[in-house]
Amino acid sequence: MKILAIESSCDDTSVALVEANQAGFAVLSEKTASQIEVHKKYGGVVPEIAGRMHAEKILPVIEEVINKNKPDIIAVTAGPGLITGLLVGVEAAKTLAYLWNLPLVGINHIEGHIYSVELEKKNDFPALALVASGGHTELILIKKPGKYKQIGATRDDAAGECFDKVAKLLDFDYPGGPKISQQAKLGNIDMINFPRPMLNEDNFDFSFSGLKTSALYYLRDHPEIDKNDFCASFEQAIVDVLISKTLKAVKKYNPQTVILAGGVSANKKLRQTLEKKLNGIKFLTPPIKYAMDNAVMIALAGYYHAIKKDFTPWPDLKAEPNWKIYE
Ligand code: KG4
Ligand code: ZN
Repeated sequence: MKILAIESSCDDTSVALVEANQAGFAVLSEKTASQIEVHKKYGGVVPEIAGRMHAEKILPVIEEVINKNKPDIIAVTAGPGLITGLLVGVEAAKTLAYLWNLPLVGINHIEGHIYSVELEKKNDFPALALVASGGHTELILIKKPGKYKQIGATRDDAAGECFDKVAKLLDFDYPGGPKISQQAKLGNIDMINFPRPMLNEDNFDFSFSGLKTSALYYLRDHPEIDKNDFCASFEQAIVDVLISKTLKAVKKYNPQTVILAGGVSANKKLRQTLEKKLNGIKFLTPPIKYAMDNAVMIALAGYYHAIKKDFTPWPDLKAEPNWKIYE
């Protein structure tokens, strides 16, 4: 089946046409209109501007991707995310479903990130997913497909948000995560001993705001610090916390697959260290290209709903900025 997928929950207007069947997936066509150049000036995503830009881009991007093809189903991110962006994607998807009389499926953005790993390989269950992005840092136990249980989450900032806020202190452009990891490669991880928040607590939750504050104080007190060393030590602290909590959950739940997804999964140090520490346990993470928000992952999640005929009639589909998928 041909799936037309739309993702507009943050600052990317992303559309993909994916052929999906039992044998696997083929991306037929995809396009993402990024708004980063505009939001950069404000140091973060401005919801009002995001909504306007999605509205301007959505039809040209859809037209280019479908290129006179007609899909069999439509999948769209319905939440969680910025309401200004979600509304544009959801209303566009509903309009096409109505006009073409096609089945429609609303996808949870987190579920999309989880399925982003299935482009090449399939999950075995139970699976444990660490989803770390600009808006989320969550450990999710997936006993079987579609059954999600949140076992841990950040109590304050998301991991990507912490990367971005500290990058701002260093005068790096938004989003600063990729720049920090680039500089970190050239630095010494042992130069600064940043705190590893909640590492020894008996739960699977995270907290990154203390790390952010200590980065702020360190820079204030040591303005001469080598930025590479600072980035290496800071990145190491985040990676240590994410990995140690994930390994603790692996020990308790004994999953068949460990999934690392979300924008922060693009971080090479994180993916390489986690894979090594898992010591042979099946490890799936998306191709770097599909770590950050994209419509291909929404198509992959859409396929699993489509084979269960889990569709929503177009009048009933709503954008839900706080949608949670957990039991
Ligand atoms: O999943 P995503 O595209 O959007 C959300 O759903 O939030 O994630 C974006 C986040 C940003 O915070 C960005 O700084 C972070 O992912 N990110 C990284 C790297 N690449 C992207 N963080 C650390 N290292 C990277 N290489
Ligand atoms: Zn995301």
